[in-house]
Amino acid sequence: MRKQGKDYIVFPLDFASVKEAKKYVKLLDSKVGMFKIGLELFIDQGPLVIQMVKKETRAKIFLDLKLHDISATVQRAMEKVANLGVDFVTVHCASRIMLEKAVKGGNKKTGVLGVTLLTDNDAHMVEAAGFKDVFVKDPGLLVMHRATMAYEAGCKGVICSGKEVQQIKKRFGSSFLAVTPGIRPSWTLLENDDQKRVTTPVQAVSLGSDLIVIGRPIRDAIDPVAAAQKVIEEIEAALGAP
Ligand code: C5P
Repeated sequence: MRKQGKDYIVFPLDFASVKEAKKYVKLLDSKVGMFKIGLELFIDQGPLVIQMVKKETRAKIFLDLKLHDISATVQRAMEKVANLGVDFVTVHCASRIMLEKAVKGGNKKTGVLGVTLLTDNDAHMVEAAGFKDVFVKDPGLLVMHRATMAYEAGCKGVICSGKEVQQIKKRFGSSFLAVTPGIRPSWTLLENDDQKRVTTPVQAVSLGSDLIVIGRPIRDAIDPVAAAQKVIEEIEAALGAP
């Protein structure tokens, strides 16, 4: 079946309570392809929140745990995650062996998405973390280096900014997923936005993003359903969908 506009949208359940998360899952069920469960809700509620999402919707689930530990521990954690029945989990692209073990632990049930470089990490932070000069001069090279590790380890894809999508798709092919956060529709103006390197939904999918993480522009809209619908229509218009 042809991918629809809504299938590109990942809505993060960045809420303090399951009750509120549930409200948005019900509201956006037919407007997004995937719900992302982050640390805040998962630490507070654990697997219960996954059960809630599974009960309310058939949309996919992305558990954003951003794992990073010794590889044996990551593998065991991933074995537990695979039993929860989520589609994707994030793991930091810190070492190839850790990513390989994460993939193994996912047991073909849960795909691993590698976190290349957090977008709040600029060249100064890359330098402070002790990376080679070549990566300090161009953090984009570090993103590609880490994406290569993820690809070779068997990950399903990576999280990357809109800036790197094209290169990632070109180098690793269409089936290696590029998941892009920091999405801001042109009609959203958020005061003091903490997302600096933003991309519009149309820009991101036109560059090749397979999934766009879009939170506050939908969540904080006066009418979240209408905002999600507007994003869908923009994507479908840009991709020439019927
Ligand atoms: O669209 P909005 O900025 O509200 O999206 C916030 C969500 O995107 C959060 O769940 C955050 O964890 C995620 N995010 C991310 N990587 C970034 C920026 C945001 O995963 N670079």
